[in-house]
Amino acid sequence: MPVRLYHWINAICVAALCITGYLIGAPLAIVNGTEAYFNYWFGTVRFIHFVAAFLFFFNFLFRIYWGFTGNEFSRWYNFIPLKRCQWKEIINVIKVDVLQVTNRQIDSIGHNSLASLIYFITFLIFLLQCLTGFGMYAAMSKAALPKLFAWVVPLLGGDMHVRQIHHILMWGFILFAIIHIYLVFYHDYIERRGVTSSMIGGWKFIEEDVIQRHNDGTEICPKGFKKV
Ligand code: HEM
Ligand code: HEM
Repeated sequence: MPVRLYHWINAICVAALCITGYLIGAPLAIVNGTEAYFNYWFGTVRFIHFVAAFLFFFNFLFRIYWGFTGNEFSRWYNFIPLKRCQWKEIINVIKVDVLQVTNRQIDSIGHNSLASLIYFITFLIFLLQCLTGFGMYAAMSKAALPKLFAWVVPLLGGDMHVRQIHHILMWGFILFAIIHIYLVFYHDYIERRGVTSSMIGGWKFIEEDVIQRHNDGTEICPKGFKKV
């Protein structure tokens, strides 16, 4: 439940941040026929960006915390491939789902190891986006939190560089979201485990023998790999 809540808050924030961020980077000259002084259109865009940014940031902090305290499938050790068997699974997923050179089943109850690694890289990009965003915000805000990030701008070579990094990362988010949503539906269709609805309702279908091996502890990784 906490991961699902985190996920949907995050997805909504990212959508709002990409739309408003794009407009900040390429502002439309909308004046509604009135004197610019009487328009607060661009201010509203920036306001939404900053509200979504704070929500995104605290939601992300919660996910970091949950990676240490949540259930076995949400913990950090799944996301950082330090074990041999995780790398084996990454290669297997590439063979099965990317190259499609073999037709075998990937038995992972949580995210598979390749998905987890990609999510981990995404989390690092979340971090960089927060650093550059709050770094820029430090110069224009009186609040204490953004001020903590004032060191980022000089470290990254000035406002222009920081804005450019922040902007380029937005395209990283858009690219990720397109591929992510495609793959979620692809896996749902191919594996028939209900992965998409599991992100809403919390339930998915796992083969009994996979659960059995998981419960027995005979699968240490715990990601098995069997022929179908
Ligand atoms: C998914 C996350 C985010 C995306 C996609 C995003 C995207 C963008 C983009 C594209 C711009 C315009 C840059 C340009 O081309 O000039 C921008 C500006 C900005 N963003 Fe973000 N942003 C995100 C998160 C954040 C966060 C967490 C903060 C923290 C406060 C933040 C603060 C800012 C600030 C201060 C500006 C400059 C506003 C201005 O000068 O008017 N952003 N953002
Ligand atoms: C219609 C939109 C979306 C759908 C249907 C969707 C669905 C899903 C599903 C089913 C999973 C679990 C997949 C697995 O087990 O590997 C997942 C995980 C994840 N998704 Fe999405 N997603 C959507 C949008 C987004 C967006 C916009 C982002 C952020 C840019 C995002 C970031 C993530 C992350 C970081 C995870 C890992 C969750 C964790 O363990 O913390 N998703 N998503």
